[in-house]
Amino acid sequence: MSQVIAVLDFGSQYTQVIARRIRECQVYSKIYHFATPAAKLREEGVVGIILSGGPSSVFAKDAPMPDKAIFELGVPVLGICYGIQLMGHLLGGKVSRSTHREYGNGTLSIAKAGRLFKGIPRKIRVWNSHGDRLIALPPGYAAIGTTENSEFAAIEDRTRGFYGIQFHPEVFHTERGVDIIRNFLVGVCAARQDWTTKDFIAHAIEGIRSTVGKSRVLLGLSGGVDSSVAAALIHRAIGTRLTCVFVDNGLLRKGEREYVEKLYAKHFKIDLRVVDAGSLFLRRLKGVADPEKKRKIIGNTFVEVFEKSLKTIGKAEFLAQGTLYPDVIESVAIGNNPAALIKSHHNVGGLPERMKLKLLEPLRELFKDEVRAVGAALGLPKEVVWRQPFPGPGLGVRMLGAIDAANLEILRSADAILHEEMMKSGLYYKVWQSFCVFLPVKSVGVIGDERNYSYVIAVRVVESIDAMTADWSRLPYDLLQEISNRITNEVRGVSRVVLDISSKPPATIEWE
Ligand code: XMP
Repeated sequence: MSQVIAVLDFGSQYTQVIARRIRECQVYSKIYHFATPAAKLREEGVVGIILSGGPSSVFAKDAPMPDKAIFELGVPVLGICYGIQLMGHLLGGKVSRSTHREYGNGTLSIAKAGRLFKGIPRKIRVWNSHGDRLIALPPGYAAIGTTENSEFAAIEDRTRGFYGIQFHPEVFHTERGVDIIRNFLVGVCAARQDWTTKDFIAHAIEGIRSTVGKSRVLLGLSGGVDSSVAAALIHRAIGTRLTCVFVDNGLLRKGEREYVEKLYAKHFKIDLRVVDAGSLFLRRLKGVADPEKKRKIIGNTFVEVFEKSLKTIGKAEFLAQGTLYPDVIESVAIGNNPAALIKSHHNVGGLPERMKLKLLEPLRELFKDEVRAVGAALGLPKEVVWRQPFPGPGLGVRMLGAIDAANLEILRSADAILHEEMMKSGLYYKVWQSFCVFLPVKSVGVIGDERNYSYVIAVRVVESIDAMTADWSRLPYDLLQEISNRITNEVRGVSRVVLDISSKPPATIEWE
């Protein structure tokens, strides 16, 4: 029987982060609804239980409560935040109600290392986010750590292997948090550390097969990391019953469509339908300069083209998407099944409802770096797995003013040069994004003895962790010179190259 660490979800925005940390320790875990019966957990081979945090108070009328019998299963339990309150409340301790939340950094002083804090320094910085707090221990427990505000910040019932911690070990702000989690998994639960990306893939394939049955699945392939990995994974699970649709919206980068065709249709032998809609998009965009209007036109036309293409492709029951965990809503409501309340991804806006398709999102629990590892294990090439993000509206948000076929060609050629130079220098994979922007202003240049009144290309290269903030990359001058020389020499219609040195905020990454 497989060994499982059960994470009971009490609605914390960090539940998926807990699961991720467990995967980092190469241990297999599953997230369960908070009220999952203990008998079911026993059946599934659970060797340890983690109670997640949550926004509720144990005193609230509709406070989410676990099946009390989980404490009789004979397996270790770690209560985090709301989880420690639950232990106090349900096992005979005392919890004090609080009207204000303690939020932010604190210092944990470890009184007794024991199994949970083995190898951890005596004082560490921890992240707090809780309202109520424990004021009297349940029988059998001892305090093993304190913070400025709590004498019971970490508690232990050594005999039963029950631990409670008021802080969040799963977030980065807690020092050595992963080590504390690993101590619980390995030192207390004796869980095996044999869970790998390959196991994730095997489980995901099993899951896709049992969800999909004999049905067909459609997937809108963009060529980006997420949809590519989703396609490769689903293809491995159900082969030709997956059909991918790639819409050529006329706003793609140079050679992009050919690349996608070659890789997916020829190499992976995926049933790929390329819809040639470039002229329709450009017709609709003609003369439109307002960025919001452009986005709306591109989005609506995409949905329309995608929907229409399905008429020739035939019936399908599922629409697959490469939704990742960060795309999923941050906090889930309590009361109903939390998993049911997760929002769906915006990329194919409204399509599933309109077309009565069920959603298939095999990557929704993963973070970007994990998706990349899955992609690599499935045999996707490095240039796909480590591809920089590219916006759905494509070059449409990198061309200021009205979009025009001739100017798109200028932008494409300049962008291809930048891409080549970034690759050659080895910096392409080190930055977050690098691309060209077309500025619809002309300035004077000279080529030979001739006056050359042409357009301006802006080079935008940024570093970022999550695209929420971004800083411009300090590229070597020699590289910038080479990029600028090549663009002005090789691309007709460009007389000047400028470098964007704005950070986000106040600017955004794309210019629009
Ligand atoms: P901004 O320009 O808002 O971009 O700083 C942040 C990140 O999001 C990407 N981006 C998009 N991605 N559809 C997408 O899939 C879009 O409509 C879109 N607009 C911006 C952008 O490339 C950057 O990575």
